[in-house]
Amino acid sequence: MSPSQPFAIDSAYVIKGGTVVDATGSRQADVLVKKGRIAAVDKALDHKHVIDAAGCIVAPGLVDLHTHLREPGREEAETVESGSRAAALGGYTAVVAMPNTEPALDNAAAVRQVLDLGATALCDVRVAGAITVGRRGEQLAPLGEMAALGVRLFTDDGNGVQDSRLMRRALEYAGALGVTLAQHCEDEALASGGHMNEGAWSSRLGVPGIPAEAEELMVLRDIALSRLTGTPVHFLHLSTAGSVAMVGAAKAQGLRVTAEAAPHHFTLTDAECAGYDTVFKVNPPLRGEADVAAVRAALADGTIDAIATDHAPHALEAKEQPFDQAPPGMLGLETALALGLTELGLDHQRLLALLSWQPARIAGISGEHGGPIVEGASANLTVIDPAATWVVEPEHLASRSRNTPYAGRKLTGKVRHTILRGEPVVLDAEAQR
Ligand code: DOR
Repeated sequence: MSPSQPFAIDSAYVIKGGTVVDATGSRQADVLVKKGRIAAVDKALDHKHVIDAAGCIVAPGLVDLHTHLREPGREEAETVESGSRAAALGGYTAVVAMPNTEPALDNAAAVRQVLDLGATALCDVRVAGAITVGRRGEQLAPLGEMAALGVRLFTDDGNGVQDSRLMRRALEYAGALGVTLAQHCEDEALASGGHMNEGAWSSRLGVPGIPAEAEELMVLRDIALSRLTGTPVHFLHLSTAGSVAMVGAAKAQGLRVTAEAAPHHFTLTDAECAGYDTVFKVNPPLRGEADVAAVRAALADGTIDAIATDHAPHALEAKEQPFDQAPPGMLGLETALALGLTELGLDHQRLLALLSWQPARIAGISGEHGGPIVEGASANLTVIDPAATWVVEPEHLASRSRNTPYAGRKLTGKVRHTILRGEPVVLDAEAQR
C-alpha cells in the first residue's frame, strides 16, 4: 500500500504471500481484512490494495504483559503515546500498562485516565491495577471498581506484596472477582541494599548483591498461597533457576500458576555490570549463566508461559547517576521479538505462543488478541520478516528513553507491518501516524 493512499479504517486489503502462523499451526495463505476483521484466509486472494508479506510470517499481534508507560507522573521517560508507538513497531497489538505510575493506578479514576489516553494509541492499552493502596502493601486497593472497568490483572509491580496475610486476602478477593494477581517476587528485607545479583561479580565489583533467594522465597510463598486459596497467581519477570524449578513443580501438581520471563533474563548475565554501566541495572537483576540457561530451558519446555518485556524507560538524567543510585529498568518493546528469534532457537510457532496467544490468555484478552487467524476474528496482526537483520540504534527507537542494553547489537528478525483492528499502524517498519 503506497503512502499516497491514506488508509481508511473501513477499507479492505489483502496481506499477500506470507506464512500464517497461529496456535492452530502454520500454512501458506493470504489474509483478506475488511472493516477491522479478517474476512477470508485462503490461497491466492486478490484485492486492489495489497500489503506485501512475501517471505514473512503473518501472526496474531504480540501481547506484552508487562509495560511501564510512565503516564501519569514520569512523562519525560515515556507516555502512553510514545510507549504504544514503540509497542506497535515491536509487533505488539496490546500491552498491559503497569500501575507503578505517580500516582499509582490503584482506583477506577486513575485506571480510566490511562484507558482514555490509550483509546487513540497505536496499540490496545490495557491496565494492570495495583493490589494495594499506593502500592504500599498495607491496605487492599478497590479491586472490584477497577475490575468493573475491565481490569483483569493486578500487581504492585516494582514491589512485591510483603505481608503474607494481606496477600492471602487479596487472592481470596481476586478469586471472587475472577481476576488474576501478578507478583513481583522480592523479599524486601533480604534484597535490601542490593543493586545487582549476589555472586562472584558483585564481590569483584564491590557492589552489594541481591541473592536469588530474595526472589525464590516469594515464589515459594505464593505457590503456597495459591494452593491455600485455590486462586491463580502469575509470576512476573522470573530470573533464577530456583524460581523456574518451583514453578515447574507447582504446575506438575496441577496448581494454577503462570510465569513470564523478560528478554534480558535470557540474553544477558551479571557479567555485563563489570563496567558499572547503569543501563544493565534492572530488578530482578541480571543473574549468572546457570540462571540464564534455566530460563531459556523453561521457555522451551513450557514451564514459563510468556515472554514479557518489563519495558522500563528511564530518562537519561536518572540513568546517569552512580550505579547504586540509578533506578533499575531497561527498554524492551522494540527488541523483544528479535531477541527471541535471534537467541532462543525455538520454532516460530513456539516463540509466538510465548509472545502472543499465551500472554493474551493470561491478560484475559484472548477474545481480541492472539486468537487464530480465521474469518470473523478481529484483525490484530503482526507481519514479521524472520530473516531481516538490523542493528539496535538507541537514537532510532520510538521510546522517549534510550536505556536499551542492546545498543549496537545485530539482531535477526524484524517487524514489517502491524495491524490494529484492521488499521495498518506500522507499514514497512514505519509508524503510520
Ligand atoms: O527494573 C525494574 N524496573 N524492575 C521493576 O520491577 C520496576 C521497573 C520500573 O518501573 O522501572
